[in-house]
This record gives sequence, structure tokens and C-alpha cells, in this order.
Amino acid sequence: METPPFLAACRREPVPHTPVWLMRQAGRYMPEYQAARRRLGFLELCQTPDAAAEVTVTAVERLGVDAAIIFADILLVLEPMGVGLEYERGDGPVIRRPVRSGADVERLLEVPRGALGYVAEAVRRARAALPAKIGLIGFAGAPFTLATYLVEGGASRDYRHTKALMHADPGAWDALMARLVRAVADTLCEQIAAGADAVQLFDSWVGTLSPADYRARVLPHMRALFAALPKRTPAIHFGTGTAGLLEALRAAGGDVIGLDWRVDLDAAWTRVGHDVAVQGNLDPAALLAPIPEIRARAAAILGQAAGRPGHIFNLGHGILPQTPVDHVLALVEAVHELSAT
Ligand code: CP3
Repeated sequence: METPPFLAACRREPVPHTPVWLMRQAGRYMPEYQAARRRLGFLELCQTPDAAAEVTVTAVERLGVDAAIIFADILLVLEPMGVGLEYERGDGPVIRRPVRSGADVERLLEVPRGALGYVAEAVRRARAALPAKIGLIGFAGAPFTLATYLVEGGASRDYRHTKALMHADPGAWDALMARLVRAVADTLCEQIAAGADAVQLFDSWVGTLSPADYRARVLPHMRALFAALPKRTPAIHFGTGTAGLLEALRAAGGDVIGLDWRVDLDAAWTRVGHDVAVQGNLDPAALLAPIPEIRARAAAILGQAAGRPGHIFNLGHGILPQTPVDHVLALVEAVHELSAT
């Protein structure tokens, strides 16, 4: 059996076509997902392995992408910490009891091993249902991005409470990060044991940090996290707004570096080094443009990758809910067609 193209690209091996998948490919833009959500609440959907596996597999079948990402959420790992995680309609996720001090960090409950067993079970069922040529990606939030939700109590623009804790009490900050590293490593190892072929760490909001703060207060924790994962399973290290951090992100670890659209793929690849794979980097808003424009933009990104082994095509961040499914299909087709060898 030949290596699936997605996995071959993670390992910088030659591929018959550039593999493509899209962050948030099973989401609200898709009628099949909306139908699943009419039956179950978001948390319920995540915690029902058969339903989560079905949503995962349906997205791949519908789109013709090269990889599946397990249907779950980065914030699920915070639930067993006892902070009052809620997903409210329209408002986005909320943490009822935010962590703002060293004492708050001490009060966090230790996540028992297996607390996210339902995610691992969904991975097992999705892997069993997917063809061998499709890679299955497990995932977790990176500790910094998880900490922003814990400390701010939800989404944020300026991350001021997070930075205040980091700057005023580095000891408490490091203790918080160490706890998150343990919980994230546990769930990723479980997902890998259940059949995930690769894992992605989402450090979605890390771009808010200065390079010095990243190096001092985040990088060592990311290193510890990557060191806790099995070497043979490719790890994708994704962040947005990382133009000032690319070398540091690379130094922190990962076999594949995720790039957003604020950088040119070719220049960014040179900066992180051609001895690592890259994933990206179409602007999600480009999927709202007419199809010929989408094709032209896909061609431009493939041109920058220049046929070098180790490029996985993706958006620079998640699909926007307003995206027409037809446009996603056109993108997947364009990437396959324009990169075929
Ligand atoms: O990519 C996939 O299809 C797999 C599933 C997936 C979800 N969330 C499902 C979801 C993945 C990989 C995530 C990651 C995630 N979750 C991130 C990192 C990626 C990113 O976009 O930066 C973050 C920051 C979260 C936290 C989160 N979960 C937010 C901010 C929200 C609300 C806003 C939104 O985009 O909907 C969620 C809820 C959520 N997670 C939904 C889905 C499909 C929507 C729930 C619904 O209303 O049905």
C-alpha cells in the first residue's frame, strides 16, 4: 500500500498531486453539518463518537480532500479543569470562571487521563470508516491559545489579561502552561494510539506576542509538548499572524509549519528552512471570490511551492461560515489538477 499523499507530504516525500484539506472543513458553511447540529448541541456532537466520526467522514466524502480532521474542539480539554466552559449560540465559547492569578491556577483540576476518551473513540471510528488513502488528523489547541481562553474568559482582541498574568507572575504563567502541556500531550497521544495519522497543534492567537515573550514564555513549553509526542507521527505546528515569529515557531518544533496568508509562502518556507514541510496558505476570504479568481490564487500558491516536496495546500485559517460549498469543491479540484505530476 502506497503512503497516502497527505502523509507523504508531511514527510517531504514525492506525491502524485499536492494534498489539500481545509481547516474547519466540517463546519457551519456545510448543509450536512447544519443537519447534524439540528439533532445535537455542539458539545453533545463532540461527545458522541458515532456522530463526530460521521461529521468527519461526510466532509471528506463531500469535498474530495486528502485528509480528514477529527470533529472536536480545542477547548474540550478545558472542560474537566472545572472552569465552566459553555458554547453559547452566536456568542462563541465562554469560560465562566476565568483564571487570572496564581491562586486560580492552583485551583484548576488536574485533567484525569482519558478525560477526552470520547475524542479518541471518534478517531477510532472515523479511521475505520475512511479509505486508507485519506490521512486522519488529530488535534489540540496549543497551550498559549488555550491559556488565552482560560484567562480572558472567551475570545479577545488585545489579550491584556493573558499578558498581565504572563508579565506580572511568570511563575504562575509557567505553572499554567505546564498543566496545559500535560493535558494536551495526553489527548494527542490518545488520539494517535486510536489511529490518528498526524496531529495538528492550533496556536491560533500566538501572533499577538512579541518575539521575546514568545521565546521566553511559550517556546520552552512547546518544545516540551513536541518532545512528549511519538516521533513517528507527523506534527503540524499552526499559528496565525506569525510573520514575526516564524523562526521561533520552527525552533519550537513540528514536522510541518502552518502559514497564514499574511506571508508569501516561498519567502516563509525559506525562513523556516526547506528541511521542514509547510501547510497553507490561501486567505479564507478568497473562497468568497468568483471561481476563476479562486483558481488563479490556488495556482499562485502552487507556483510559490514550486513542486518542492513537503507542501500541503490549506487555507491560512478556518473556512468562513459564508463560504459556498461549490467554491470549496472548485478549490480542491484546482489544487489536484494544477499540481498533478
Ligand atoms: O476543522 C474541523 O472541521 C474540525 C473541527 C474543529 C472545530 N474547532 C469545530 C468547531 C477544529 C479543528 C476547531 C479548532 C478551534 N476551535 C480553534 C482553532 C482554529 C481556529 O479557528 O483558530 C479555535 C480557536 C476554537 C475555539 C472555538 N470553537 C471557537 C472560537 C468557536 C466559536 C466560533 C466558531 O468559529 O464557530 C468554536 C465552536 C466550534 N468549533 C464550531 C465548530 C464547527 C461551531 C459550533 C456550532 O455553532 O455549530
